[in-house]
Amino acid sequence: MNRLRKFFHNDELVYATRTHPFIWCLAIICTLICIAVIITGIAVFIGYAVIHPRIPILSVANATLGTMRYSQAGLLETQMTIIIRAENDNRKAHASFSDTAFILSFQGLVIAKLVADPFDVKKNSSIYFNYEVTSDEIPLDSARMHQVDLSLKKKVITFDFKGNSRTQWRVWLLGSVKFWCHLDCQLRFHTSNGTYISSSCSSKSN
Ligand SMILES: *[C@@H]1O[C@H](CO)[C@@H](O)[C@H](O)[C@H]1NC(C)=O
Ligand SMILES: *[C@@H]1O[C@H](CO)[C@@H](O)[C@H](O)[C@H]1NC(C)=O
Ligand SMILES: *[C@@H]1O[C@H](CO)[C@@H](O)[C@H](O)[C@H]1NC(C)=O
Repeated sequence: MNRLRKFFHNDELVYATRTHPFIWCLAIICTLICIAVIITGIAVFIGYAVIHPRIPILSVANATLGTMRYSQAGLLETQMTIIIRAENDNRKAHASFSDTAFILSFQGLVIAKLVADPFDVKKNSSIYFNYEVTSDEIPLDSARMHQVDLSLKKKVITFDFKGNSRTQWRVWLLGSVKFWCHLDCQLRFHTSNGTYISSSCSSKSN
């Protein structure tokens, strides 16, 4: 009985002396984590203030409706040029765009799908690229035929142009930032001469 109590007592002692270093370790680790978080916060703040990272922007710069043939049978044939601008306002980082894809549609009917290979935009600059769309004759249903008739009467036709691109650019100390650009535009043209009625449409959220 005596031996057993003594053993138990010893065991408790051993247990108690082992607890201390462990708690000290925990405290040191917590302190280090706190310091790391504070330093990261300061680095992010300085990085932001110095670099002033800006999200690259996609926008429709211009467009032209070449020919638009519309037969009484309801077949629509369009030819269009769309000029997209990819803008990188970052002064210290070049931006890369990938997974770029757009859809041109009329009243929900897809006319063309456009894709671009990955491309880079240098620091503080922008590039333009032209999309040439030539659609085959697309048969329209009666509701869309009615919409085309209305558009021809109003002398203005509207197409929808939507798409995404994944941008990536490098920010000092923050590593590389990735961001999806979304473009959701309405392209309006004078039906008489195919001139684009310009409206500011870009992936900028504000
Ligand atoms: C758009 O393109 C048309 C013809 O291609 C041109 O006349 C017009 O000036 C351009 N508009 C802008 C804003 O660049
Ligand atoms: C960025 O471009 C603008 C005009 O496009 C120019 O005025 C400015 O000096 C350029 N900044 C740098 C740092 O190159
Ligand atoms: C195209 O036609 C519209 C009116 O139909 C006119 O306002 C516009 O100036 C014309 N554009 C050109 C480049 O002729």
